[in-house]
Amino acid sequence: MNRIISLLAAAASWNICAGNPAGIALPQDASLDVLPVPLSLDNRALPNSPSGGYAPGAVDCPSTRPTIRAASSLSAAESSWLERRRNNTVGPLSSWLSRMNISDFDAAAYINTHKNNATALPNIGIAFSGGGYRALMNGAGFLAAADARTSNATNTGQIGGLLQATTYLAGLSGGSWLVGSVYTNNFSSVEALRDGHNDSSIWKFGNSIFEGPATGKFKVLSSLSYFESIESQVSAKADSPLGFNTSITDYWGRALSYQLVDAPEGGPAYTFSSIALTDDFKNGDIPFPLIVADERAHDTKIVSINSTVYEFNPFEMGSWDPALYAFAPTEYLGSNFSGGSVPDGQKCVRGFDQAGFVMGTSSTLFNQFILQINSSAAAGVPTFLRDIFTKILLRVGDANDDIAQYQPNPFYSFNNATNRNSQSKELTLVDGGEDNQNIPLNPLIQPNRNVDVIFAIDSSADTYYTWPNGSSLVWTYRRSLNATIENGTAFPAIPDHNTFVNLGLNTHPTFFGCNASNMTGPAPLIVYIPNAPYIYNSNVSTFDPSYNNTERNAIIENGYDVATMGNGTLDREWPTCMACAVLSRSFTKTGTAVPAACQTCFTRYCWNGQLDSKEPSGNYTPPYKLSELKISSAAPAAVTVMKTSAYISALAAAVANVLV
Ligand SMILES: *[C@@H]1O[C@H](CO)[C@@H](O)[C@H](O)[C@H]1NC(C)=O
Ligand SMILES: *[C@@H]1O[C@H](CO)[C@@H](O)[C@H](O)[C@H]1NC(C)=O
Ligand SMILES: *[C@@H]1O[C@H](CO)[C@@H](O)[C@H](O)[C@H]1NC(C)=O
Ligand SMILES: *[C@@H]1O[C@H](CO)[C@@H](O)[C@H](O)[C@H]1NC(C)=O
Ligand SMILES: *[C@@H]1O[C@H](CO)[C@@H](O)[C@H](O)[C@H]1NC(C)=O
Ligand SMILES: *[C@@H]1O[C@H](CO)[C@@H](O)[C@H](O)[C@H]1NC(C)=O
Ligand SMILES: *[C@@H]1O[C@H](CO)[C@@H](O)[C@H](O)[C@H]1NC(C)=O
Ligand SMILES: *[C@@H]1O[C@H](CO)[C@@H](O)[C@H](O)[C@H]1NC(C)=O
Ligand SMILES: *[C@@H]1O[C@H](CO)[C@@H](O)[C@H](O)[C@H]1NC(C)=O
Ligand SMILES: *[C@@H]1O[C@H](CO)[C@@H](O)[C@H](O)[C@H]1NC(C)=O
Ligand SMILES: *[C@@H]1O[C@H](CO)[C@@H](O)[C@H](O)[C@H]1NC(C)=O
Ligand SMILES: *[C@@H]1O[C@H](CO)[C@@H](O)[C@H](O)[C@H]1NC(C)=O
Repeated sequence: MNRIISLLAAAASWNICAGNPAGIALPQDASLDVLPVPLSLDNRALPNSPSGGYAPGAVDCPSTRPTIRAASSLSAAESSWLERRRNNTVGPLSSWLSRMNISDFDAAAYINTHKNNATALPNIGIAFSGGGYRALMNGAGFLAAADARTSNATNTGQIGGLLQATTYLAGLSGGSWLVGSVYTNNFSSVEALRDGHNDSSIWKFGNSIFEGPATGKFKVLSSLSYFESIESQVSAKADSPLGFNTSITDYWGRALSYQLVDAPEGGPAYTFSSIALTDDFKNGDIPFPLIVADERAHDTKIVSINSTVYEFNPFEMGSWDPALYAFAPTEYLGSNFSGGSVPDGQKCVRGFDQAGFVMGTSSTLFNQFILQINSSAAAGVPTFLRDIFTKILLRVGDANDDIAQYQPNPFYSFNNATNRNSQSKELTLVDGGEDNQNIPLNPLIQPNRNVDVIFAIDSSADTYYTWPNGSSLVWTYRRSLNATIENGTAFPAIPDHNTFVNLGLNTHPTFFGCNASNMTGPAPLIVYIPNAPYIYNSNVSTFDPSYNNTERNAIIENGYDVATMGNGTLDREWPTCMACAVLSRSFTKTGTAVPAACQTCFTRYCWNGQLDSKEPSGNYTPPYKLSELKISSAAPAAVTVMKTSAYISALAAAVANVLV
């Protein structure tokens, strides 16, 4: 019963004290809310769940019955998709590199010379870290800057077009909300998602998930029907005769979807695998989305750097790690796989890979936080909410607080010798950041994918004031040094997190792996893009559940400046340097001399191997890099400290609990 009270208290207090935990007051700056070009929001992925709703449904198996495969290569589907995508990136790559203006280097001629050999051309990945709404919004700033469709993004000093040349787009936790939202809405641009339209609750973060959406200008959905609707969707899955276990993640994913999937009731029938059926994806006109989660081994609560890392892509779900080393077809998750196949005579299941559930799986840490908040404010919660939450919590029970339940386990009785869940009918997945690898790099460093450069957008809350300090890269590097677990992956050398702060490697973009010989094997160049204050303190709390449109737009705009270094204001050669990073591995492969402009860039942006590992003195408090977005009245410093530290303690408690 205590837990119910806490949850209700959380709901109540979040309703009341929503806002910027850093205590920054924004002006009612109307200009931020002005829509530049009213872009239309296109339709989403496909509502192709056989039940027509959230519940998975039984279907006849296809004539070639689905199977689990060993992770020894890319899937045939990804390989043939890649041929189309890589070919389609040639034109965009050529024009982007040309616009990035590397002096004394003819980028178009270079690409033209190598255009028939994909191996020689840069293969680009972008990875969006976790960090709740902060990660979604800061990541969105980068995505908008990289997208040629964004207004002014192809002007001098800007980097628009990188996205059109990109092959892989990975998201984890809050980053998965960004990637998931973009793909479930027909690869809509960040501008279109941000500005939405009158009848939509898309990216309207002003109403927290506890309040539910205000749908459109004229029609306001009541909280009652919002919660009842979520409850009936999840009940349909829980009560299905096919017998699925549900967890808080199902509710969490449903609630999130109202903000992220632009369809009535958050698109209960939209599946992640349906992305593969959309024309833009099939034609290779858009990148390949990847969402990351971690496995919690059967009978344990421990999630560590040893834990198995899973990916979801439109074709498959599974892991390259040696413990599992297997993939299941995403579309047929929920089928009763055993020893790698669905037993003869049994039907298949579709609709389990519900898009919001996949995003919820990548971000289960938020379940934990909801349940940890301790407050006596429950008295103010309306009875109808109390009843609904009581029902929810009685159903899911203690064991399922912080996990997503994949049951039946697609990898049951598969790879018995190494698969830690092979003897369990249930597969429990958790937030992709719980192993401390908060940037979804694992899918992008797989040798089979041959990625040359990864833009690692880090919105992590590593430091006291919720800024990143490179820890996520440190963990991925450490993991790559473990001979048992690395399984053919390699990673550039990364310094300790104190060095990041002492040398300022976390205040501006930094390249790792410039020296191809200073790596444990062939690995991509990492372009580390840490969240930093250009015009706005974008270090808002991971667990702040609501943001008004003014603040949302300020954080997205700050993220845009993080990506472009203020459209070149801080370094007018930054776009050139990004292009050099993209070309670095290609230069090595084709034996091309590195242009002088790129050598200058590498001197400026590559980590040079220097270390400074002493404990930094004081907390990391980066100053604004550009003029601060006008603030009507600054909050007193003391308030800022107290609010932020309260959030951090709560976060620490939540994380500690997960790891116990
Ligand atoms: C939006 O949120 C910010 C940060 O909490 C606050 O300072 C500002 O007054 C709010 N603006 C509006 C229009 O509500
Ligand atoms: C998705 O967007 C593309 C343009 O990028 C458009 O051609 C297509 O019609 C859209 N699909 C739907 C279903 O709206
Ligand atoms: C390669 O891309 C070009 C430009 O997009 C297109 O015209 C051509 O048909 C593509 N070739 C293949 C084999 O897909
Ligand atoms: C390209 O770079 C050169 C040399 O740095 C510079 O003079 C020129 O203005 C740049 N062109 C553009 C369009 O930025
Ligand atoms: C393609 O490029 C790679 C890397 O430069 C090279 O090793 C390979 O031989 C090239 N293949 C062809 C067919 O030219
Ligand atoms: C794009 O540039 C034009 C001309 O400089 C400017 O008026 C407009 O506000 C810019 N739009 C955005 C979204 O920055
Ligand atoms: C990895 O697993 C080993 C043995 O299971 C354990 O000793 C070690 O502490 C684990 N490492 C971490 C970082 O949890
Ligand atoms: C390396 O990984 C293996 C497999 O997870 C684990 O058992 C071992 O303890 C790890 N080694 C270290 C030094 O953490
Ligand atoms: C990766 O792990 C699998 C399963 O344990 C193994 O068969 C394979 O040889 C490993 N690959 C590399 C490159 O170590
Ligand atoms: C794997 O484990 C299952 C369940 O214990 C067992 O039925 C099956 O025979 C095992 N498979 C192999 C190949 O050993
Ligand atoms: C790379 O350089 C770093 C720092 O100089 C060093 O600690 C590390 O051992 C080197 N790693 C490899 C694989 O050369
Ligand atoms: C950079 O350009 C974007 C889009 O045009 C704009 O929103 C942003 O304010 C600009 N930043 C600076 C520092 O000029």
